[in-house]
Amino acid sequence: MSFNNFVLKFSQKLPPEFSNKISLTGLKIIYKLHLINVLFSSATRENKINKYFGLDFPNKVGVAGGLDKNANYFHVLGKLGFGFVEVGTITLKPQSGNPKPRIHRFNNEETIINSLGFNNVGSVKALENIEKNKKNFSGVLGVSIGKGKEISNERAHEDYLHLLDYFKDVADYYAVNISSPNTNDLRKLSSGDYFNKLIDEITNKRDQISKGFSKYKPIVVKISPDESLNNLEKIILYSLASGVDGFILTNTSLDHDYNLPGGVSGKPLRQKSEESLKFVRSIVNDKAVIISSGGLMTKEDAIKRFSLKADLIQLYSGFVFKGNSLLQDCLDVSST
Ligand SMILES: Cc1cc2nc3c(=O)[nH]c(=O)nc-3n(C[C@H](O)[C@H](O)[C@H](O)COP(=O)(O)O)c2cc1C
Repeated sequence: MSFNNFVLKFSQKLPPEFSNKISLTGLKIIYKLHLINVLFSSATRENKINKYFGLDFPNKVGVAGGLDKNANYFHVLGKLGFGFVEVGTITLKPQSGNPKPRIHRFNNEETIINSLGFNNVGSVKALENIEKNKKNFSGVLGVSIGKGKEISNERAHEDYLHLLDYFKDVADYYAVNISSPNTNDLRKLSSGDYFNKLIDEITNKRDQISKGFSKYKPIVVKISPDESLNNLEKIILYSLASGVDGFILTNTSLDHDYNLPGGVSGKPLRQKSEESLKFVRSIVNDKAVIISSGGLMTKEDAIKRFSLKADLIQLYSGFVFKGNSLLQDCLDVSST
């Protein structure tokens, strides 16, 4: 049995939230012992630089938001072979999230349901963690930001603007999360006046921040797979007009038959995520970067996403179920 399969078999026997933590901690120990290159072959690959929104991506395969919520592991995931990691989602203040159990994993169906609710250490501690680990990371660092649980949608823009400012020295790009189903009313930020105001304020802030740096700080918006096509088109058109740099398609979906709170990810999300990608690409053409996330579980899925013109891809559930072997497959696909 390969080391990858051994780790997966072991971790799948543990309660999901604990298992995520144990697996990432185990990986960090392996990293500290300088054994990543020995135990995982993808770490020794040659990378070819890909340029998107002014950033040099060592490859096109990234870690989706939520796996490294508190920025403790991104350097380790980079060493494993990922070209970019999106840490967070981070809120201004620490939050404990929704009651446990809040992650349910169905191994046979390759499905996860989560209702975490932005549990994270908050911006101050997260920035310390990023500063500590970034010197050991040569990939692209995305910082995913979200509004606090107690903050009304009328005041949500204040949180996002503070967070943009707070992470400006360390973020290579920002992911604006308005699509988690686990914070009350968050998804309402993607409609009408809330959305337009929020996006305009965010792109203005980005311009201000970028002026103060030699580097441009792109903004990508992470979108729900449950948007109607009508609203999705509005979101995309308004974002493009406002100067958004890219989109992440998609977050988890509330459209599932499991009698559990939270959003579904993994295999059942595949089709919705592919449909969103196809639809949004047809609107944006080459005017924005598209990062495809959702139900990417196999090498064939990765081939399909690139054939549907995703620029970059992100893994979450697929990585939980398949580990390093899926990363390797995706790296193979993306480098051809
Ligand atoms: C346990 C869990 C926690 C997540 N937390 C976040 C998060 O904090 N921020 C975010 O943008 N997405 C979060 N996501 C969504 C993932 O980033 C990803 O978009 C989604 O799971 C679809 O991809 P997948 O099918 O490959 O898992 C989370 C997903 C899971 C399963």
